Amino acid sequence: MIYQRKEVIGSATLYQGDALGVMQTLASVRAQAMICDPPYCSGGFTEAAKRSAKGQGLRSETLREIDWFGGDNMTAGGLQWLLRAVAVAFKGHVDGTFATASFFADWRMVPLLAQAIEAAGLRFQAMPVWDKQAAGLGTGFRAQHECILHFSIETPRYYSASFGNVLRAPRMPADRDHPTEKPVALMSALVKVQSDAGGTVLDPFMGSGSTGVAAVQLGRSFVGIEHDPVHFETACRRLEDAQRQGSLFGTAA
Ligand SMILES: C[S@@+](CC[C@H](N)C(=O)[O-])C[C@H]1O[C@@H](n2cnc3c(N)ncnc32)[C@H](O)[C@@H]1O
Repeated sequence: MIYQRKEVIGSATLYQGDALGVMQTLASVRAQAMICDPPYCSGGFTEAAKRSAKGQGLRSETLREIDWFGGDNMTAGGLQWLLRAVAVAFKGHVDGTFATASFFADWRMVPLLAQAIEAAGLRFQAMPVWDKQAAGLGTGFRAQHECILHFSIETPRYYSASFGNVLRAPRMPADRDHPTEKPVALMSALVKVQSDAGGTVLDPFMGSGSTGVAAVQLGRSFVGIEHDPVHFETACRRLEDAQRQGSLFGTAA
């Protein structure tokens, strides 16, 4: 079996399994948009660790010790390989010919990942940033943003002109559901630009399911993949809550 669990929760279908393995198996999924928030593999859990000699070199020794979450202790080469393969697999799940794909990344990984994803045949269209609206701890140029590498398959089609390439949303509070949980408001901006109501959004590294919550609230279908059973459970709970509350357009599941 390529996945351990499958849960259909209203317009959301969640798979517990390996992102690439599941994507290579799901013949029937047709998505307008892929939103990927993979492990960053950028050499540390904190900015300080990433800057330290130990964290440099785009490797993840620190994470190996912390065992923070599965997959994040890959080398930079491993992540390049994985995201190129995910991009290739996405081309088999496109709804029409206009699909777009966004990949969150630490700034240290941008040159490596942009080239790897381009090598899958996608076009690098933009690099919006998430402005967390407050600088993190530390000194020097304290980290306040994360990068989003945005690609298209063929000529892109966009569904909103309401957003610039600086997407502002406050950081998540300490009592969040997942160590790297993204704000639903941030994911909503990506969902609105990359899909329209009734379309399908795919997130192969869904974590606690923030992309899915945004998609369901906006009346999209959602397909999410997560290999960690605890995070998968969290995503199921959050998607059930989102379906219960219904979409912003009043179509409760
Ligand atoms: C950066 S987190 C995503 C967080 C998510 N955006 C949220 O808001 O909760 C990346 C997730 O990918 C999962 N992951 C890592 N490697 C994976 C793989 N090969 N297949 C599926 N999930 C994977 C991790 O367990 C982690 O939950």
